[in-house]
Amino acid sequence: TYILSVLQKDGTIVDTRKLLLPGTSRNATSQEDQLAIQGSLNSLQSRDMIKYTTQETLMHELTPEGNDLADNGSHEARVWAAVPSKGQGEPLAPAALQGIIGAASAKVGQGRAMKNGWIGKEGAGFVKLVPQITDQAQIDLRQVRETGTHPKGEKELADLRKRKLAVQKKFLWFTVEKGPEFSISVEKLETDLTVEMLASGAWKDAKFKKYNFEAEGLPTSGGALHPLLKVREEFRNIFFEMGFAEMPTSTYVESAFWNFDALFVPQQHPAREMQDTFYVSDPVASMPPQPDYHAEVTKVHTVGGYGSSGYRAPWSDEETQKLVLRTHTTASSARALKQLADEYKQTGVFRPAKLFSIDRVFRNEAVDATHLAEFHQVEGVVADRGLTLGDLIGFMQTFFKKMGLEHLRFKPAYNPYTEPSLEIFAFHPQLHKWVEIGNSGMFRPEMLEPMGLPKDVRVHGWGLSLERPTMIRYGINNIRTLVGHKVPIDSVEKSAAVRF
Ligand code: PHE
Repeated sequence: TYILSVLQKDGTIVDTRKLLLPGTSRNATSQEDQLAIQGSLNSLQSRDMIKYTTQETLMHELTPEGNDLADNGSHEARVWAAVPSKGQGEPLAPAALQGIIGAASAKVGQGRAMKNGWIGKEGAGFVKLVPQITDQAQIDLRQVRETGTHPKGEKELADLRKRKLAVQKKFLWFTVEKGPEFSISVEKLETDLTVEMLASGAWKDAKFKKYNFEAEGLPTSGGALHPLLKVREEFRNIFFEMGFAEMPTSTYVESAFWNFDALFVPQQHPAREMQDTFYVSDPVASMPPQPDYHAEVTKVHTVGGYGSSGYRAPWSDEETQKLVLRTHTTASSARALKQLADEYKQTGVFRPAKLFSIDRVFRNEAVDATHLAEFHQVEGVVADRGLTLGDLIGFMQTFFKKMGLEHLRFKPAYNPYTEPSLEIFAFHPQLHKWVEIGNSGMFRPEMLEPMGLPKDVRVHGWGLSLERPTMIRYGINNIRTLVGHKVPIDSVEKSAAVRF
């Protein structure tokens, strides 16, 4: 409003450096003052209340050395002050002079003091020739400091620059005139069009603040990986290091055929019941599997084969076509193994394989601190001729060692699709106890041979959850603080990196 009142009175402001700083008796001579004024000018100009032009003047500013001379006197004045008056004591030798005022000052100052007629040589030393001096150099430097320019003009300024006593700086100042919306008071402008304005019609008379397209936006924060993804990346790296290839796992919705039947899970198995498995009601059925393979699987379940007597239990094709949310990634492993078998059938050559997957699975379970209805499985499968249980155990040891678990124990277990099956326990260095870390086994011939894999090909596999090692790593004991809607976003942003 001070600027507005000056404009009201004078019509224009030719030079903002001449403005009196409100509340002081000082003019706005410093660059800082001018930049503060520019802030007000910007805001007034955005309301079209004024128009301003930026002017640029080259100004001189003293360097630290220049300031020292302005404060404490020029080198020549220092020389003059140090030497004795003529006839009063010993003339001062150049070396002694350097000792008193410093070599740099002495060197520059003695010549200038001589030239000014302030001192003279007597024998090998200096004496004062005049009783009093006027240190014009100091006076001039002070003037430069105050006004930004030299009273004697550009030649002197160039000399100061050469002697590194002053540097040239751009100095901004402004000329101001009234704008189309000029008024003596600043109206408060609306920044938002609100529902209330629309409802009352107040928007018609409201004055809105202009958009400032030059304003910088708020800095956006970068994305952050969820802890599960960090641990997943470590597992992937272990697998890649060990020569594994990643299996496709896009089939969240899977047929009961691949999720259960192909894996020799009997149709009466309790895991298939609705309280353990999510069934999909729409669509009602999956596409039927390859007819010849379907026939083989049906046979091995109902009457047996490949040295097995089968389950000899009721069988329903309809059951095989039900759609489920896959309960384990072993369904994807089965698809991958069938593909190996098909390749063998086509080419007559069996290609050994090391495959892995890390993806989501679903179980109709009561949700509690350690269980969710969906989680991730890490699964590895190795297929080659003549693999043994020893290979599986050795493999486990290498694999888990890479994630820092050195001591493993194996406990006999049961899976419909593996025989033998082993639960894997590890002594956990952080938890200081034995914890179950996974499940494994040699896939049954009842699963592999109907696919068409050669008889001497053995496949071992193992699976573990991704959540469990992640919770241990991050010291999380309630899974709901790791996954789901109760997870604070910043805990994800701040979660530390993981290295196994
Ligand atoms: N599918 C098993 C599970 O859900 C893990 C497993 C994979 C077991 C491969 C043996 C072989 O726990």
